[in-house]
Amino acid sequence: MKNILITGASGFIGSHTCWLLLNDGYEIFALDSEINSCLKVLYKIKNIYKLNNQASKNNFHIFKGDVRDKNILKKIFTYAIQIKKPIRSVIHFAGLKSVNESFNEPLEYWDININGVISLIKIMKIYKCKTIVFSSSASVYASESRKILDEDSPINPISPYGKTKHIAETILNDLFVSSSGWRIANLRYFNPIGAHKLAILGEMPLYNKSNIFPKILEVASGSKDYFEINGKNWPTKDGTCIRDYIHIEDLVEGHIKTLEYLSDKKSQFLNLNLGTGIGTSVLELIKIFEKANNLQIPYIFSTPRFGESPILIADNKKAKKILNWSAKKTVFQMCRDGWNWYKLGL
Ligand SMILES: NC(=O)c1ccc[n+]([C@@H]2O[C@H](COP(=O)([O-])OP(=O)(O)OC[C@H]3O[C@@H](n4cnc5c(N)ncnc54)[C@H](O)[C@@H]3O)[C@@H](O)[C@H]2O)c1
Repeated sequence: MKNILITGASGFIGSHTCWLLLNDGYEIFALDSEINSCLKVLYKIKNIYKLNNQASKNNFHIFKGDVRDKNILKKIFTYAIQIKKPIRSVIHFAGLKSVNESFNEPLEYWDININGVISLIKIMKIYKCKTIVFSSSASVYASESRKILDEDSPINPISPYGKTKHIAETILNDLFVSSSGWRIANLRYFNPIGAHKLAILGEMPLYNKSNIFPKILEVASGSKDYFEINGKNWPTKDGTCIRDYIHIEDLVEGHIKTLEYLSDKKSQFLNLNLGTGIGTSVLELIKIFEKANNLQIPYIFSTPRFGESPILIADNKKAKKILNWSAKKTVFQMCRDGWNWYKLGL
């Protein structure tokens, strides 16, 4: 299980995962197309790891390519066999992730998010690698069905993005039913923010800054004058949307626990929320950020975004029970670590 392919490796969650897995003794094969990140973040990880550990052997293999391209996938799986480190499992992060953008570019979302998973599992099948952790999302749940969402809450995504995540989960389920021995976990993330505590990694999207945290960082750094809050009349305590923010390091630890859990099983299909179970409104997030970092975030209110839910909070009992894992870090720590990285780590 410790020889692993990470797709979307240089992105926000992928890069933090590579760092943790590398330090946990994994042999990593990392793939990214660089559509929303740079491979240089992976070379940075590799260099820091080597320096810290005086490592002479190379256990971090970096590839540029598109996960839809079966040839690059075959090349990676074959190379892993040649160096006697056959890939035993995959974490599939590669994909497009903006709810908003997906309304304007649905075909790109269907193409990358669905054809990506299909190419990947076809090649995994050929190489008899049957363990996959898939990056799914809370956006698969029906909007406004419940405020606190457990894994059995109704599924009915509104956005093309959420639909691609739901269909990818469905494809993985069909695969699981069709042949034995697959170990599959769909991890439904809530809102990962923050950065590595040592400020060596953070969230640095190349073009798509639709997530809330990169936007707050832009205002904090002075490159934007104010932060736009989409809507002030949502049915919440202060009129702004409530989300379940989870520290990136807690989220990544949830992946390692999931891999460990799957490795004990002969076959398994799992849908699992990764969240803290605590809701924070956008206004509260701004206030906490200001307090944690002793600075001001000017904001204005703008129109609500189509397809948003007022409140999304994870019921995380299942993850606690089966993984013996729960998120530990507070929103204050997320805000402090995220800004520290932005100031020091760029
Ligand atoms: N960050 C969040 O808030 C969040 C929430 C729920 C789910 N997710 C999911 O988690 C995964 C990772 O998210 P992230 O925040 O790290 O996003 P990210 O954009 O930082 O990382 C995704 C990475 O995938 C790469 N990529 C995209 N298409 C590719 C392709 N065809 N082939 C190879 N690489 C490709 C990008 O270059 C990028 O490095 C995504 O699938 C996303 O949908 C993220």
